[in-house]
Amino acid sequence: MALKVLVCGGGCAGPALAFWLAQTGHQVTVVERFPALRATGAQIDLRSQGIEVAKRMGLLDTIRSKLVDEDGVAIVDSQGKIHATFMANRTGKGAQSLTSEYEIMRGDFVRVLYDATKDNVKYIFGKSVEHFEQDEKGVYVNFSDGSSDTYDILVGADGQGSRIRKAILSPDSPNPCFSLGAHMAYWFIPREEQDSNIRRTYGCSGGRMIMRRTHNSTETQVYFTLRDSNPELASIHRASVEHQKEFWAQRYRDAGWETERFLEGMKTTKNWYCQEVIQVRTDTWSKGRIVLLGDAAYCASPLSGMGTTGALVGAYILAGEICRNPDDLALAFSNYDTTLRPFVDEFQNINTRLIRLATPESEWGVALIRFMAWLACLLHIPQLLARFKSENKGGLLVPDYPELL
Ligand SMILES: Cc1cc2nc3c(=O)[nH]c(=O)nc-3n(C[C@H](O)[C@H](O)[C@H](O)COP(=O)(O)OP(=O)(O)OC[C@H]3O[C@@H](n4cnc5c(N)ncnc54)[C@H](O)[C@@H]3O)c2cc1C
Ligand SMILES: *[C@@H]1O[C@H](CO)[C@@H](O)[C@H](O)[C@H]1NC(C)=O
Ligand SMILES: *[C@@H]1O[C@H](CO)[C@@H](O)[C@H](O)[C@H]1NC(C)=O
Ligand SMILES: *[C@@H]1O[C@H](CO)[C@@H](O)[C@H](O)[C@H]1NC(C)=O
Repeated sequence: MALKVLVCGGGCAGPALAFWLAQTGHQVTVVERFPALRATGAQIDLRSQGIEVAKRMGLLDTIRSKLVDEDGVAIVDSQGKIHATFMANRTGKGAQSLTSEYEIMRGDFVRVLYDATKDNVKYIFGKSVEHFEQDEKGVYVNFSDGSSDTYDILVGADGQGSRIRKAILSPDSPNPCFSLGAHMAYWFIPREEQDSNIRRTYGCSGGRMIMRRTHNSTETQVYFTLRDSNPELASIHRASVEHQKEFWAQRYRDAGWETERFLEGMKTTKNWYCQEVIQVRTDTWSKGRIVLLGDAAYCASPLSGMGTTGALVGAYILAGEICRNPDDLALAFSNYDTTLRPFVDEFQNINTRLIRLATPESEWGVALIRFMAWLACLLHIPQLLARFKSENKGGLLVPDYPELL
C-alpha cells in the first residue's frame, strides 16, 4: 500500500527518511522552510550504527570521498604550546576515540542526502507547515503559501526548535527543551599556515573553551563554547547577528591564544551560527498520524557527537516500521519508539558534571585539566578505554528490515 507522506524539514533526518520511503514506493514530499537547500554548518561526525545505516543506504563511498582529514586532537595552552595529543584510530576497527573516523562538513552531508533523493522525492523550498488537523482518514495540512493538501503521515523533522512537536505536545506537558547550561558559537575564518589537520583545543578560565580545526586548504573553523547557566543568556540567540557577535567578543576578549585572530575573522565571516546547547527530551514522539524524527524528537546537542547518527538510525527504523505495518501506523510508531528509545537514552546521557569539570572557572582548574590530559596521553588512556568500549551504543544492533530492500 503506497502511502502519501509529508516530511517537514529538509536537513539530515527528513531526507534520510524520504530516501527509504521513496525507494519502497511511497509518495514523499519534503517541505523546507529555507528558500534553498540549507547546506551549511560546521563539522559533524558519523559514528557506530550511523555508519552501518549509511552503508545500507549505499552512500558510504560517497560520504568517504567527502571526509574531512582530521588526524587527532591536541590540547594547547595560552601560548599555543601542545600539552597532549590524541590521535584518531584509522584502522576502521574498534571504537573511535575523540576524533571520529567519519568527520564530514554538514553541508557536504546534507548535499549527499539530497542528491540521493531528489529524483524520487518532491522537494519544496521556502515553504512550511502552517496548520494541520487529523482524523482516522488522514492529515489535512495548510501550508505557509496558502495551499493545502491531505496526507497519510506527517513527519516532523524540523530540528531542535520543531513546530510540529509544539503542536502535538499537550500545552500542560513539561518543557521538552533541557538546557545543558552551555552556549556555542562557530564560524569560519581564512586558513593560516599553522592550522594543521590536528584539531586544537584550548581551555581557559571562566568556563570557556576554544577549538580550531581545518576542513580544506582555504578555511578554518572556530568554535567557542561557554559554560554559563544564567537563563538570561538564552535571549542572545534571538538577538541580531551583530549583537550575538558583540556578546561573544566581549566574553572572550582576554582569553589568550589566537583569540584576537578569531575575533577579527568573526567580523567578516559568512558562516556564523550560535546556539544554546540543549537536548530535547519528551515521551511523545508521535500522535495519531504525526511522528517526530531527529533533533525534533530527541536532539542530543553538538556535545554528544551523535546528532547525525541519531538522525540516520531513527530514519531507518521509522521507515522500516512504516513499511512493515503500513495499515497500522499506531503499531509502526510504537515499535519505532520502543526500538529506538534505549539508544537515544544512552547517547543523551551526557554527564553535565563532566562538562563543568572540563570547563573550570579558575586558571588553576584549567592548568589541572591540561595536566590530566598530559597524563592520560602518557598512559594511553583513550586507547585503553576504546578497547573496552562497545561500538554499539545502547546495545542497539541495527535491525534488519527486509521490507526496505
Ligand atoms: C544550519 C544548521 C547548522 C548546523 N550545524 C551543526 C554543526 O556544526 N554541528 C552539529 O553537531 N550539528 C549541527 N546542526 C544540527 C545537526 O544538523 C543535527 O543535529 C542532526 O543532523 C539532526 O538533523 P535533523 O534533520 O533532525 O535537524 P536539522 O539538521 O537541524 O534540520 C532541520 C531542518 O528543518 C528545517 N526547518 C525548521 N523549521 C521548519 C519548518 N517550520 N518548516 C520546514 N522546515 C523547517 C530547518 O531549516 C532544517 O533544514 C546544524 C543544524 C542546522 C540547521
Ligand atoms: C585501533 O583499534 C584497534 C582495534 O581495537 C587496535 O587493535 C589498535 O591498536 C588501535 N590503534 C591505535 C593507534 O590506537
Ligand atoms: C486549511 O485549508 C482548508 C482547505 O483549503 C480550509 O478549508 C481551511 O480553512 C484552512 N484552515 C486554516 C486554519 O487555514
Ligand atoms: C572550503 O570549504 C568551503 C565551505 O566550507 C567552500 O566554500 C570552499 O570553496 C572550500 N575551498 C576549497 C579550496 O575547497
